[in-house]
Amino acid sequence: MKIWVYPGSFDPVTNGHVDIIKRSSKLCDKLIVAVGNNLRKKYSLELTERVELLKLAVKDFTNVEVDSFNGLLVNYVKSRGASTIIKGLRALSDYEYELQMALINKNLAPEIETLFMMADIHYSYLSSSAVKELVVNGGSIDGLVPDCIKDRIIEKLTGEKTVL
Ligand code: PNS
Repeated sequence: MKIWVYPGSFDPVTNGHVDIIKRSSKLCDKLIVAVGNNLRKKYSLELTERVELLKLAVKDFTNVEVDSFNGLLVNYVKSRGASTIIKGLRALSDYEYELQMALINKNLAPEIETLFMMADIHYSYLSSSAVKELVVNGGSIDGLVPDCIKDRIIEKLTGEKTVL
């Protein structure tokens, strides 16, 4: 069984993430979307909120599971019996960071592959940070996040301190 892991912060999930989930889940038997903590980032949403929003966003995908993890990604991937980490790539600016992560992970666990999927052109400009900035400034996020969680995202991001 081909199990892949799509890790990320998802603070919050965007339609760009959902597009990667939709396309990559067709290439494996099971896709685990794994919400983690990037120690270099401060989050606007709690881990439980990020997981909750993702679960709603992917409820129609039958071979997709949402989970969270602590510690090293490669240890989590191994613990789930997965073979592959899938990541989305937008502009060139993503490349350097993702290359570093992929090489560190390869060094830690040579048996695990990292694959990159190019973001759809429609979402290549989209980021969770942009969604947050729009929300706190009253801009529309129509079409940028799944319709079914749009109101929840606005409610959560306007209710408390939002880190951009
Ligand atoms: O792309 P993102 O949203 O910043 O992803 C964050 C995440 C959680 C996937 C990433 O920071 C991660 O893998 N964290 C776990 C710690 C780890 O294994 N780091 C790699 C070696 S430095």
